[in-house]
Amino acid sequence: MSAPDSGSKGQDLTLGVDIDSLADGQPVAGHVGDEAVLLARRGNEFFAIGATCSHYGGPLAEGLIVGDTVRCPWHHACFSLRTGEALHAPAINPVDCWATEVRGGKVFVAGKVVAAPKKRASVGADSPGKIVIVGGGAAGFAAAEMLRRQAFKGGITMLSDDDAPPVDRPNLSKDYLAGTAPEEWIPMRGDDFYAAEHIDLRLKTSVAGIDVAARKVVLADGSGVAYDRLLLATGAEPIRLPLPGMDLPHVFTLRTLADCRAIITRASSAKKAVVMGASFIGLEVAASLRARKIEVHVVAPEKIPMERVLGAQMGAFVRKLHEEHGVIFHLEDSAVAVDARAVMLKGGGRIEADLVVAGVGVRPRLALAEKSGLAIDRGVKVNELLETGAPGIFAAGDIARWPDPHSGMPIRVEHWVVAQRQGQTAALNMLGARVKFDAVPFFWSQHYDVPINYVGHAESWDEIAIDGDIASRDCVLRYRSKGKTLAVASIYRDAASLAAEAGMEAS
Ligand SMILES: Cc1cc2nc3c(=O)[nH]c(=O)nc-3n(C[C@H](O)[C@H](O)[C@H](O)COP(=O)(O)OP(=O)(O)OC[C@H]3O[C@@H](n4cnc5c(N)ncnc54)[C@H](O)[C@@H]3O)c2cc1C
Ligand code: FES
Repeated sequence: MSAPDSGSKGQDLTLGVDIDSLADGQPVAGHVGDEAVLLARRGNEFFAIGATCSHYGGPLAEGLIVGDTVRCPWHHACFSLRTGEALHAPAINPVDCWATEVRGGKVFVAGKVVAAPKKRASVGADSPGKIVIVGGGAAGFAAAEMLRRQAFKGGITMLSDDDAPPVDRPNLSKDYLAGTAPEEWIPMRGDDFYAAEHIDLRLKTSVAGIDVAARKVVLADGSGVAYDRLLLATGAEPIRLPLPGMDLPHVFTLRTLADCRAIITRASSAKKAVVMGASFIGLEVAASLRARKIEVHVVAPEKIPMERVLGAQMGAFVRKLHEEHGVIFHLEDSAVAVDARAVMLKGGGRIEADLVVAGVGVRPRLALAEKSGLAIDRGVKVNELLETGAPGIFAAGDIARWPDPHSGMPIRVEHWVVAQRQGQTAALNMLGARVKFDAVPFFWSQHYDVPINYVGHAESWDEIAIDGDIASRDCVLRYRSKGKTLAVASIYRDAASLAAEAGMEAS
């Protein structure tokens, strides 16, 4: 990830571009003054929007145009070419939009225009009066933001047992933990956003139950909050291993901003760290601690890191990448105890450590839904509109198991972008839009300077077709079952990743 690039590349679009040189659906990078602008043609229409993605600054002119939208090559946010609106997460903020004029066989980019976001839900007299969101994470925040973007004027109450407002959680194991992301990147919005948008954000507020018949949630202090529509977005919590010493002050898990800050405080004086777990969060933490010059040992039971999700070859590459950065692996082994100075291993080893981070997986926070009698199937069961069996109660994010039209199975995933997009879809459906959630799952993971992008969902496969070379960090891996591509992982092949996503959507 890098800071947004405001550099102006390409031609000055105010001077005009020959129409004949513009291929339909092929964006062109240019600039207006010192602002990077993308010019795109769709049939006889011409569009100009900001070329720098509002998520982490990805170059939109290198993205994929689908209909009247453009998708960011880095993490697949989707922007309207007509208005600049960020239609699909992970970008939430719009990019600027310019008027275009056709004269004498050329298209000129003229002044900036303020274009209203697309209305996908009709907010009318029959709209709910009060919407309650349980959870201040990816799905909860995206839902609240979308409700206001759709001009919903009713009450929004967001209840979160966290002590921080919604944050950019993926950053907590990456740049922020590494010490390379500034503090202001972390909140999804400044504190004033919630008051300005009349979102009643109540932090450190735990929801203990739902009175489905009376349509109210019951807080831990016994008080009630009434709703017309309810969104459950309670996310997941780290699994805590029941080992001796896991409650010592130098042993951490990572989910919240407070967890991350506590690790950073400890890391400022730590010399040797043990990371338990070699999947995404564990290895991202390992990379971030290496950036802080801490000796890092990774302990995990598997033979090859990430093999279950990415396959043996990509897993072996990830291991080598970390080893090149000095990480020491203790695979096919596990921790059995921790004391003030070391971690003891099942295989008899002992690793000195003054910092221990357990990244051994998460468990969806289902207790509230379970207690309230909602249908559970290794997650909260929802239909294609993300509504549970109880009318008016929706669920989104890490807790939701939804009927995925692409795999043909009910699936539950723990991906940031999926949680945000489900929050956005649930918001529209709480307003009565009846939009099916049919996004192809997407996640990314970052290890040093190597991003891994993944689209689709493959719990198992019978073949991995590799295009390019994994070791050269230039590859596309297609996970296939009976000839059908279920998922695609890639390194520095953003165009192929976007094309795979669009292909899966269309099939
Ligand atoms: C360190 C880290 C790095 C990650 N990196 C990536 C990545 O690179 N790519 C990727 O795709 N995914 C990543 N993820 C996963 C991603 O963050 C999650 O999939 C996403 O946050 C899920 O969103 P959610 O809204 O379902 O839950 P969360 O974001 O966890 O939010 C849940 C919210 O519910 C609140 N809550 C729970 N129960 C209650 C209750 N009873 N009462 C009140 N409030 C309650 C919590 O306090 C929290 O505010 C990462 C996760 C972590 C922890
Ligand atoms: S930088 Fe564009 S989606 Fe992340």
